[in-house]
Amino acid sequence: MSTLAVAGPVPVRGRVRVPGDKSISHRALLLAALADGTSTVTGLSSGEDVAHTRDAIAALGAEVVVGADGAVRVTGGTLRAPEAVVDVGNSGTGLRLLMGVCAALDGATRFDGDDSIRRRPMDRVAVPLRRMGATIEGTGDRCTAPLTVHGGAVTAIDYELPVASAQVKGAVLLAGLAADGETVVRERLETRAHTEELLAAFGADVRVERGGDATSSVHLRPGPLTAADVAVPGDPSQAAFWVVAACLVPGSDVTVEGVYVGPARNGFLDVLARMGADLEVDEATGDVRARYAELRGTEVAPEEIPGLVDEVPILAVAAAVAEGPTRFLGAGELRVKESDRLATVASELGALGARVEALPDELVVAGGGRLQPGRVTSHGDHRIAMAGAIAALAAEGETEVEGWEVVATSYPGFEQDLETLTRS
Ligand code: S3P
Repeated sequence: MSTLAVAGPVPVRGRVRVPGDKSISHRALLLAALADGTSTVTGLSSGEDVAHTRDAIAALGAEVVVGADGAVRVTGGTLRAPEAVVDVGNSGTGLRLLMGVCAALDGATRFDGDDSIRRRPMDRVAVPLRRMGATIEGTGDRCTAPLTVHGGAVTAIDYELPVASAQVKGAVLLAGLAADGETVVRERLETRAHTEELLAAFGADVRVERGGDATSSVHLRPGPLTAADVAVPGDPSQAAFWVVAACLVPGSDVTVEGVYVGPARNGFLDVLARMGADLEVDEATGDVRARYAELRGTEVAPEEIPGLVDEVPILAVAAAVAEGPTRFLGAGELRVKESDRLATVASELGALGARVEALPDELVVAGGGRLQPGRVTSHGDHRIAMAGAIAALAAEGETEVEGWEVVATSYPGFEQDLETLTRS
């Protein structure tokens, strides 16, 4: 286990580029593997999660060449169920999307991952994929890993998501590419749109309908994909760490360059703006500038959660120093992420002197707190580790973040960027 030590208080200043968006990276690789011809993906996430998906598509039969410039060339076409177990590491997105792909492959694909992945519910994907014809064997009621997908002929379904999950939407649509008719996925709360955006880029017959009753649906007709070149923009969920860091310590002024600006990803900016943050977003370049400002608490509504689900830990850090309480309502989905994030945010920010209460479906941050140095544990969760490191910037003294190595799953260069931004 490794530990990161951060001495505060220290402002963050300068310009930074975060890794390529993780959600887009997984999908670009999977669609390139399914497409005829050679696709080039640039700006791919440098994290281990995406490396696992890259290895998985190679095991499924795609040809993957990583260039000296970091560009990944994928020649896709006909995939097959691999002999060896596919190791997804820590990646729930990788596993769920791959399950969708493998539901359409003849034969059995076996999946496994780390301790965290073995606790995460896969029944939310298994239920629709079984309805589409796959046989899925997992462990227990929640169909946890290790698990096996027996794929083959795919039946098209019309499916309303019971949980707001872009991963489930993505898995159903990926299986739907090989279905016997039009697959429809309906959602009541808008989730990130990367699957449908990228399906269109790879030439799929896909359209999105928005109903007047706040629902939307994605309609996909089966058919072959054609290779495409994808330039992956910066990951807003990683940008959020630096944006919040700038909000915490007087004298901070940070610009995160080239961040994805699109559906259901930038909700954290709306919440921070409501809290009084000093933000500038250049929609054309994706550059996001944040300068120190005093924050006040806010209420985050359940409908907002899917658009900032990964940012709740770092927004809770902002809330801890804000004047007045902040409530994240309808946040129960955070309990089934890489850790039980309602519990781990409460315990780890609590270790730095914040008053945070985890209710069954809600997170309440008292606010008004001066953060103190302390010991934070990652609980095997990259976002808890990084939120702890950012909180440490506002505390007077040295904070240690234990289990730091897990940050490599999504942001291996975080420590280097932290050093660069705190140097001046
Ligand atoms: C993701 C969707 C979100 C998010 C995860 C990535 C995706 O999960 O938490 O980090 O790429 O589709 P859910 O869709 O399950 O909420």
